Amino acid sequence: MSTSERTALVTGANRGIGRAVAAELLGRGLQVLLSARRFDDAREAALELGAGARPLALDVTDEDSVKRAAAEAGPVDVLVCNAGVLLDAGTDPLSVPLELVEQTLRVNLLGTWRVLQAFVPPMVARGHGSVTVVSSGTTAEFGGRLFGRTPGYSLSKSGLNGLTTLVAEQTAGTGVTVNAVNPGRVRTRMMPTQEQLPEQAARFVADVALLPTDGPTGQFLTEHRSR
Ligand SMILES: NC(=O)c1ccc[n+]([C@@H]2O[C@H](COP(=O)([O-])OP(=O)(O)OC[C@H]3O[C@@H](n4cnc5c(N)ncnc54)[C@H](OP(=O)(O)O)[C@@H]3O)[C@@H](O)[C@H]2O)c1
Repeated sequence: MSTSERTALVTGANRGIGRAVAAELLGRGLQVLLSARRFDDAREAALELGAGARPLALDVTDEDSVKRAAAEAGPVDVLVCNAGVLLDAGTDPLSVPLELVEQTLRVNLLGTWRVLQAFVPPMVARGHGSVTVVSSGTTAEFGGRLFGRTPGYSLSKSGLNGLTTLVAEQTAGTGVTVNAVNPGRVRTRMMPTQEQLPEQAARFVADVALLPTDGPTGQFLTEHRSR
């Protein structure tokens, strides 16, 4: 399938990394569904990106919103699960308010999970698709170093890496790949003092999203600058 025949959907694409990924995929010739919690934000960003970008309302925490988006989107070939929040910066595991952790898990882990449940089965049915989950360098395996100053966020992203391996195992051999990416630290509203621009991170995320579907799956791929 040629690039111009493929449709990508990016969650949380109204700003930050998501918006830059949408622009990058558009630049590489794909049709892009630019989704955001609020339709007006999606429409504004899609208008700015120009022809080939179509706005879509999609709140990852809202079951009805995700189902409506899946129905309106039509076939999606490339899914980038980017929407996320960082709410507990500067806390620690023994005193972080658990409401913050709960809200973080609701968006980052369960929200992404909900999107995967809505969009991956149709990809499997069509026999092809690429899913990229935007994770983070705050994650770690046992024996590694989980970043403790954003405890809820770090665990939500570790959960996403685990979820990526589970879904990849289930889609193995179907033509659908599922990978997680660490985009490195990026200057956005979430991390305003970082050096790397969203456009740089977006090139890496798009490279992963456009890997051939007989390529890697169930992997956690890291932008080399963040190693
Ligand atoms: N910046 C970094 O250094 C960095 C590093 C590693 C990973 N990441 C990850 O990269 C992703 C994008 O982050 P960013 O840095 O671009 O942050 P950002 O500028 O704060 O953007 C976050 C995006 O997620 C959206 N979002 C939040 N809750 C949502 C929901 N319930 N439904 C749909 N969209 C929702 C936001 O929409 P609204 O505008 O409506 O709030 C916004 O579009 C996140 O998953 C983040 O964890 C970032």
